[in-house]
Amino acid sequence: MTQTKFNILVLGSGGREHALCWKIAQSQHCAHLFCAPGNGGTASVAENVVLDATDHDGVVAFCRDHAIALVVIGPEAPLVDGLADTLQHHNIAAFGPGAAAAQLEGSKGFTKDLCAEANIPTAAYGRFNAAAPAHAYLDKQALPIVIKADGLAAGKGVIICDTMDAGHDAIDYIFDGAFGDAGAELVIEEFMTGEEASFFVLCDGTNAVPLATAQDHKRVGDADTGPNTGGMGAYSPASIMTPQLVAQTMDTIIRPTLDTMAARGTPYCGVLYAGLMLTPDGPKLVEYNCRFGDPEAQVLMMRLETDLVPALLAAAKGDLSGIDLTWSQDAALTVVMAARGYPGNYDKGTQISLDGVNEDSQLVVFHAGTRAETSGTLTAQGGRVLNVTARGKTVAQAQTKAYVGCGKIDWADGFYRKDIGWREIEREKNLGEK
Ligand code: AMP
Ligand code: GLY
Repeated sequence: MTQTKFNILVLGSGGREHALCWKIAQSQHCAHLFCAPGNGGTASVAENVVLDATDHDGVVAFCRDHAIALVVIGPEAPLVDGLADTLQHHNIAAFGPGAAAAQLEGSKGFTKDLCAEANIPTAAYGRFNAAAPAHAYLDKQALPIVIKADGLAAGKGVIICDTMDAGHDAIDYIFDGAFGDAGAELVIEEFMTGEEASFFVLCDGTNAVPLATAQDHKRVGDADTGPNTGGMGAYSPASIMTPQLVAQTMDTIIRPTLDTMAARGTPYCGVLYAGLMLTPDGPKLVEYNCRFGDPEAQVLMMRLETDLVPALLAAAKGDLSGIDLTWSQDAALTVVMAARGYPGNYDKGTQISLDGVNEDSQLVVFHAGTRAETSGTLTAQGGRVLNVTARGKTVAQAQTKAYVGCGKIDWADGFYRKDIGWREIEREKNLGEK
């Protein structure tokens, strides 16, 4: 690294961005850290600034004015919108793929076609931009069936249908504009069965460094009931992703993807997040995301022992050779506290007190939708609001510690799942009994 200490800007406002800021702020390379717009938690490790990520010229001007040497783009929308391209064009290192490569998340049909071209295991599919052929295709499929809006829909564009009527309704719902432009096309997919896992790889266009495994809990209710959410909790590592399955995923899914993207002249740089279904026939791709997961980033950052900044900068500059990341043998687990009503309607502005929580290296409360008010109070401003994140020798130990933390938080209007990590804890119990 030419310069030993430099200024860094993180874009985003979720728990993922607080976790990234928390880790980056510990870097020996971090001179001054900015977060835009940030939240009540990033304010404690970074300087929150107001910046509109859709105003590319404004972001470039901010970077120039504040001598920013690295921009870390947290969420998918600015990546799909080409912010990384604009920054790189102005010689500002940006972590995250350019618009062409971010299509891996920005268009489900794009990714399905790429899988077909490169022989990557995934669900059988049809891709449609008009209702009549979609209905005709659906009639020939087996149930259940999955219907997906093609574009970015904030995690809400996937409809799993148990009846043909529900499937036909889903097609009309998407084409009638429920997801706006994101529903101008749709994908109809075979329903896959198995356990899901999140797998993260750092990419520089050619090379891929596997990061770590995690498992998310997408449903709002205990025992995986109720509607899907952005994620109600996560843990890492996910032992179901054995070294053998990691190797198989690299060989059959990740490498062919990166090779195809590079061959097309749109190499993928940044973190590639593969949502996997571990089926009886081996790992299959459910979806790609072009960013860290939220809340998976929180558990990854808690376990990462190496300085993150050189790795992010190396990926941004297209050369990961020499980057080697070390992960704690400990497990990490995060519990999402959400506003009552989420993922439906919820109130904003309710008061939270974290005074009872004793944070240390084993317990960190990452903030998502919070705001630190000038009066000194903390208020809830979003659906997912806090991520109570703990480390332990086992997932069970991390879970106990995280729930003790949750119990110390005074927030009458919040709720959380009581069973985060249950699959892994079952596995740990079974191993203990052997
Ligand atoms: P996605 O946004 O594509 O990850 O989909 C959200 C969730 O829907 C996934 O995490 C799965 O739980 C489920 N899902 C998506 N596609 C399929 C599929 N083809 N088969 C079974 N479940 C799926
Ligand atoms: N945790 C799921 C996501 O980040 O998309």
